[in-house]
Amino acid sequence: MTDTLRRTQLSLPGPRSKALFDAEAMYLAPGTQSVALFSQLSIDRGEGALLYDVDGNRYVDLLAGVGVASIGYAHPKYVAAMQRQIARVHVGSFTTEHRAALVKLIAELTPGDLNRSQFYSSGAEAIEAALRLAKSRTGHTEVIGFWGGFHGKTGGVLPLLGSSFKHALGPLMPGAYLSPYASCARCAFGKTFPSCEWHCVDFLRHKISPDSGAPERCSRSSMRACSPTCSRSGRGSAAASP
Ligand SMILES: Cc1ncc(COP(=O)(O)O)c(C=O)c1O
Repeated sequence: MTDTLRRTQLSLPGPRSKALFDAEAMYLAPGTQSVALFSQLSIDRGEGALLYDVDGNRYVDLLAGVGVASIGYAHPKYVAAMQRQIARVHVGSFTTEHRAALVKLIAELTPGDLNRSQFYSSGAEAIEAALRLAKSRTGHTEVIGFWGGFHGKTGGVLPLLGSSFKHALGPLMPGAYLSPYASCARCAFGKTFPSCEWHCVDFLRHKISPDSGAPERCSRSSMRACSPTCSRSGRGSAAASP
């Protein structure tokens, strides 16, 4: 066993992590991501794909900072570029030399005639912008989300969330429909392809347009799968929520 392995604190979170987590929790409003709440880790620094907690434990961050640390942590070129920019101007919507260079670079890298960028500071904002773009381009206003999906916490994406987070927040934007993923490996209706005859498509079609004909009655296993979406009659409900 190497020294590094021997030194690893296996009872997590370590005492310093836990103390800092508890101190912060007294002033931090709820809403932190589950990975942070469950682990209760306090991170000291990152380096490449690694994170170090305040007790000195080292982790490979397979989450990549919830999917956004694609260049890893503290890359020297990234640190230098950030420091240079912060020392000059760090906020504002005016054109800067670096933003002009960045939009040009993105246009060169993106396929076809995709040559315009718009920047947002959060995932939810970006998704709202994507919805606006899709609606204005297609002229259609209805959107499909999936059970278990998460898209942020702003008003425009809440109706697409497939979780209970959005409940008790009042009326949400109309025109959003939720469906299970069309996953044959883990069919939400307990069916198998092709004997299912595309039940998931029928389910979605019925939710969008209840007059298009109800999907076939749910089997006992699909009742469990779509509960609480199924009414007692055993018919898939158009009012289903995840
Ligand atoms: C898949 C997905 N979409 C959207 C978001 C929202 O991003 P943000 O918290 O930056 O608004 C998240 C955040 O975790 C996400 O995981």
